[in-house]
Amino acid sequence: MNGNRFGRLFQVTTYGESHGDAMGVTVSGCPAGLELDEDDVQAELDRRKPGQSMITTSRGEPDAVVINSGVQDGYTTGTPIGMVIENKDARSGKYEPYVTAPRPSHGDFTYSAKFGTRNWGGGGRSSARETVNWVAAGAVAKKLLETQDVQVKAHVNQIGDIEAPEVSFEEMLEHTEENEVRCADPETAEEMRDLIDEYQTEGDSIGGSIYFEARGVPRGLGAPRFDSFPSRLGQAMMSIPATTAFEFGLGTEAREWTGKDRNEDWEFDDNGDPVPEGNKHGGLQGGITTGQPIYGEVTWHAPTSIPKEQKTVDWETGEEKDIQVVGRHDPVLPPRAVPVVEAMLNLTILDFMLLSGRMNPDRLDDQPGRYDTEYHPSSPDNE
Ligand SMILES: Cc1cc2nc3c(=O)[nH]c(=O)nc-3n(C[C@H](O)[C@H](O)[C@H](O)COP(=O)(O)O)c2cc1C
Repeated sequence: MNGNRFGRLFQVTTYGESHGDAMGVTVSGCPAGLELDEDDVQAELDRRKPGQSMITTSRGEPDAVVINSGVQDGYTTGTPIGMVIENKDARSGKYEPYVTAPRPSHGDFTYSAKFGTRNWGGGGRSSARETVNWVAAGAVAKKLLETQDVQVKAHVNQIGDIEAPEVSFEEMLEHTEENEVRCADPETAEEMRDLIDEYQTEGDSIGGSIYFEARGVPRGLGAPRFDSFPSRLGQAMMSIPATTAFEFGLGTEAREWTGKDRNEDWEFDDNGDPVPEGNKHGGLQGGITTGQPIYGEVTWHAPTSIPKEQKTVDWETGEEKDIQVVGRHDPVLPPRAVPVVEAMLNLTILDFMLLSGRMNPDRLDDQPGRYDTEYHPSSPDNE
């Protein structure tokens, strides 16, 4: 069954398996005239790639992207952008014991039960290796949104029971990338790091969450009911492997608030437009953006591949087995998921911007006219 495409006008179609030759993504629907090169994409991939620190998997993937279509002379052409990221460090042998004896809490059994077969090396298509494609596509969306003054940022706000204090958007921009946990509060980042170390040392793993925020998103995006902004954003976030919850605004805390306390009176802004006096609604009312910052949280369970002894069954032999999932694995997910959350947020916002007609889906109007040979260095007329 086909579930490999995200987006309606800005369409992202992906392929690839954890231990296959390569991961790949086609971005169809990117307007022409966007300045884009591999470095733009690589910068985002480097934030997601494995082996960045002691709290990420030691799989040695350079995650080097090649753009093989849709960009000429440093600008998008309006035709599909193809991007490929080769897998360089797959060691499938370690997964042989799980071919018919599923690892606890992975997609091994559900994939086999559904398709009657599966690519089992490294978890195949169910692996979060797939998110490298999303981050590559998200890098293109990010560049397009920069032309519209839309900016997104995420940071790790909780690991286990260690919660970060509230931080401003500016603090997130300034501090998130300064530490390997990607928490914008440096002191909490250290506490989180110690906690992750403790679980890693005892052969266990731990869950956590990410706070995200988007600034500059215009009012009026979202098509209620089923294409409302929060429903599309929820789909984007809940597609990320190992997520267990998505929320926006007050999220689950809303159950503790009275109507009077949560409600925001209307007032006029400096332009004379009605505006809610606060933003407990998280930038979304009636499924449509209000123009206020959009913010929320996504939660991950602890990574399931742990060296502690667990039990499984072999559906071929009928045996019960003890297994330990040893190898190269993340002991915690949110630090690596920050760029993935940002990518999915960028992709969701951009798709709505194009759908709403706020952006020309064919070309960026304020970019050099690509029809004009003056801006076309590789044209024979310019040689
Ligand atoms: C960026 C990222 C990296 C991940 N790395 C691992 C990992 O090293 N080990 C692991 O057990 N799970 C990892 N996961 C989670 C698994 O992919 C996921 O739990 C598994 O495919 C089963 O899917 P489910 O948890 O959504 O049911 C990672 C998830 C993300 C978002």
